[in-house]
Amino acid sequence: MLGFGMYTQALDSAGAAEPQGDVDEVARLERFQARIDRDEKIEPKDWMPADYRQALIRQIAQHAHSEVVGMLPEGNWISRAPSLRRKVVLIAKVQDEGGHGMYLYSAAETLGVSRAALIEQLLAGRAKYSSIFNYPTLTWADIGAIGWLVDGAAIMNQIPLCRCSYGPYARAMVRICKEESFHQRQGYELMLTLARGSAAQRAMAQEALNRWWWPSLMMFGPSDAHSVHTAQSMRWKIKRFSNDELRQKFIDVTVPQAQYLGLTVPDPELRWDEPAQHYRAGPIDWSEFQAVLEGGGPCNRERLAARREAHEAGRWVREAAVAYAEKHGAHAEPARSG
Ligand SMILES: [Fe+2]
Ligand SMILES: [Fe+2]
Repeated sequence: MLGFGMYTQALDSAGAAEPQGDVDEVARLERFQARIDRDEKIEPKDWMPADYRQALIRQIAQHAHSEVVGMLPEGNWISRAPSLRRKVVLIAKVQDEGGHGMYLYSAAETLGVSRAALIEQLLAGRAKYSSIFNYPTLTWADIGAIGWLVDGAAIMNQIPLCRCSYGPYARAMVRICKEESFHQRQGYELMLTLARGSAAQRAMAQEALNRWWWPSLMMFGPSDAHSVHTAQSMRWKIKRFSNDELRQKFIDVTVPQAQYLGLTVPDPELRWDEPAQHYRAGPIDWSEFQAVLEGGGPCNRERLAARREAHEAGRWVREAAVAYAEKHGAHAEPARSG
């Protein structure tokens, strides 16, 4: 919590690195794009177009919120995990997601927006987060399905972000991706245990796959034809692949994993396209995606209520931390502005 001021102190000088006045906007934009094209990293103190800054704030904030809200569906099962081992693994995973949120809020702060303002937007219901977390976790198998499918889809999305043009975001993603692969493996291992268990356990695993498959495919966002931000984000190398390309990669990796589990992907139109060497999925029901995005998901209200409650319950911790930092300010310089 403390020490984030370290990132933001330098922002007063944002934009000052580039000479003003005689350099016109077009030349400056061209030089910026040339840096991107050379695969140079853009750093917080570098000049950047206002649109680039806004696009990153939007994307990183949405990502940070998703990590934090993503703790909730799985957090519901910590007290009900069937063994000590499963409980320890699940606690570690949920803690990781909280940590991911923290790295990402820090990365967003380097762009000149405060973490407090971002959290306020989330709690007020004005911020977006991944709609997958508005689905309920009904059985223990959902914990396996989330790790396998939801974290699996997150990895597909996030590995290319390690090469994102904005330095702080790219570096946060390197660390996050290492932890995401542990999340995916623990989920798959849980599914494998159920799939090799009793008939009731196999049925529970299949039923979880039935509910999580389509929402996982929707995690990649709308089809390229309907995605407003994709083209510009790709020019700026914030994104490296389109939504449909990433979704296809996920399908190609995940279908054989389902087969290995002996489970059936709930898509009667799913087929192997031999010439193209791809699995082809049936059409996605985007009306459901839109409904969940607009707040009509099974748990939208519940998730925000849980976040608000946690924020209030943690108020004394934040206040105590600030008081402590002020008291010890002379000895703990970097913590002061947190
Ligand atoms: Fe995460
Ligand atoms: Fe994760």
